[in-house]
Amino acid sequence: MGPETSDDAAVYRLNDDLAIIQTVDFFTPVVDDPYLFGQVAAANSLSDVYAMGGKPLLALNIVCFPDCLPAEVLEQILKGGADKAAEAGAIIAGGHTVQDDVPKYGLAVTGLVDPRRILSNAGASPGDFLVLTKPLGTGIINTAAKGELAPEESFRAALETMLELNRRASEVMARCGATACTDITGFGLLGHAAEMARASAVTLEIRTDSIPVLPGTRDLAAMGMIPAGAYANRDFLAGQVDMPEHLSPVTTAILFDPQTSGGLLISVPAAGIDLLAGEMKRAGVRAKIVGRVREKGPFPLVLI
Ligand code: CO
Ligand code: CO
Repeated sequence: MGPETSDDAAVYRLNDDLAIIQTVDFFTPVVDDPYLFGQVAAANSLSDVYAMGGKPLLALNIVCFPDCLPAEVLEQILKGGADKAAEAGAIIAGGHTVQDDVPKYGLAVTGLVDPRRILSNAGASPGDFLVLTKPLGTGIINTAAKGELAPEESFRAALETMLELNRRASEVMARCGATACTDITGFGLLGHAAEMARASAVTLEIRTDSIPVLPGTRDLAAMGMIPAGAYANRDFLAGQVDMPEHLSPVTTAILFDPQTSGGLLISVPAAGIDLLAGEMKRAGVRAKIVGRVREKGPFPLVLI
């Protein structure tokens, strides 16, 4: 993979049958509980391997931690990361800790993939369906939660989706003929969709009324609980999204909302969509069709 496609991870081909996937991600706490934060950060770091259609093999901890906090907090973060990596079938082989004012945690992950089965974001073809495997709204809910304004139901639902590995979704897409994939993280659905559109030289048509959203997200966005990243994402894509005039500011905020450990955006040919949808359901993945791929037009993204 060259850097020109802004892919989720670096891929290095060892031989005809085997390639290494390498990726790294870490961030500041999104939840107060250190054990849960460790799990969420690890699930998020592992996600780029799944987005490429690979299997995580080894991981290294990357930790920033202040000396004013009890060592037990650090132990809980690392336990969360180790447990999530184990769930993914990966081993944490070590890591590195630096003293810093604000805690940060994540993993550098090494994965394996069959080079013939790599899913980059450059393979989407006109006529493909677009499938999203997790609901949006974690950025908005986490913002509200920081001010203790998130309803319990919303917080629980956001936590559940952030903790969920993209493993099953990745396994299903790999055997159901997906043509392209990326995971939805800091740039929001539209930011990552725009990268796929550019890399694949197509236009992505997103159906705004089909977007799955976490419970309470709309109310919180209407109250102004919108993370700064959502505005940054919108500004970054200025002039690149064909938006209907009636689109509400709440829907716009959700489409640009930066996600933590978000789902996969998968492009799949029309002939394979029923199989993929059925298999996702059987695997317990709440995947939704959110749009179609079109021939490249004046805008990389068209919202309808
Ligand atoms: Co990614
Ligand atoms: Co990443």
